[in-house]
Amino acid sequence: MAILDASLDELRATRTSIKWRAYDPDVIPVWVAEMDCAPCDPVVEAIEGALRRGDVGYAAPGPLEEAFAHFAKERWDWAVDPAQAMMLPDVMIGVGELLRANTRPDAAVVLSPPCYDAFFGFVQAVGRRLVTARLDANFRLDPEALEAAFQDAGPGAAYILCNPQNPMGTVHTADELAMLARLADRYDVLVVSDEIHGPLTHPGVTYTPYLAVPEASRGISVVSGSKSWNLAGLKIALAVPGADATASLGALHEVNTHGANHLAEIAHTAAYAHGAPWLDELRGEIVERRELLRGMLAEQLPEIRVTPGESTYLVWLDCTELGLADPARSFLQQGRVALGVGTNYDPHGRQFVRFNVATSPQVIGQAVERMAGVLH
Ligand SMILES: Cc1ncc(COP(=O)(O)O)c(C=O)c1O
Repeated sequence: MAILDASLDELRATRTSIKWRAYDPDVIPVWVAEMDCAPCDPVVEAIEGALRRGDVGYAAPGPLEEAFAHFAKERWDWAVDPAQAMMLPDVMIGVGELLRANTRPDAAVVLSPPCYDAFFGFVQAVGRRLVTARLDANFRLDPEALEAAFQDAGPGAAYILCNPQNPMGTVHTADELAMLARLADRYDVLVVSDEIHGPLTHPGVTYTPYLAVPEASRGISVVSGSKSWNLAGLKIALAVPGADATASLGALHEVNTHGANHLAEIAHTAAYAHGAPWLDELRGEIVERRELLRGMLAEQLPEIRVTPGESTYLVWLDCTELGLADPARSFLQQGRVALGVGTNYDPHGRQFVRFNVATSPQVIGQAVERMAGVLH
């Protein structure tokens, strides 16, 4: 078992991360994207060994890029040239710096909500104009919305792709990605693809890395093992340029690699090189937990619609039929359950909450019971 089968009290007693600290101790935290599991043995052994040996200096390029390239080839048949990849402190620092280096200060950045909440913050942090191209009603990329947004954004804009898409787990198809790439070329938009959830694609679903699509050669992907192997406390990322994007990645100053952490590099290298069996076990467990949540909601809160998900442990719940003014607030204040707040991911998302199922069945069960208690 990758995900711990522990009680809420056991988890709370052994964890000090933000998931467990942001709310009062009586609140069940199923909000932030951290899993309740220990890293896999190869990662623990690699970190333990490095600490014992005193291998605690600065990160050097090489092993992580090689391990990722091997993983990407084996898993997705995506050919990555390790020599072209650039180590970064984490995904969002990388995305933010790519925007800063490749767009003018008056340029726009296009997002497709519902999307990862920090995208909005980073567009604001780098001072670019936000333009949105909403996903369609089925949470798929919408060609018309994208074209209208790219026209509005003007030449020299950027688009942050979330592949797969947090919060609902849409896995964009090769055709959808090719459509995006063609539009981006036509309107001179740089696509930066955040692929942090890629390895968490559910069993049986085909994941396509953006740069594996021939039309996407001008894009840049940013990858990390931190979601898939639960290493948010040991962050690092890689930016990988498409065949025609080496200049765009080269626009990042070399100092951006300096924040990459050596222990994180060791951890992620071990994960990519030796963590595939654990990852595959985890992916099966995630689907089981998702089904568990779906079943419990069907029994206790049938008005909630569980939107279809094809990847990750985050489940996007449509609460419209509950008739609550602000579901996330009611679940927190009355139910004492902290969920992802819909409006953080989508300005029109008030009726949605995001549930993190990478926890024990007990915790999922308690959270659903408390949510149901708010209504009944
Ligand atoms: C889509 C997406 N990108 C990036 C991150 C954060 O990555 P990092 O900590 O490497 O910036 C998350 C975390 O949940 C995420 O869901």
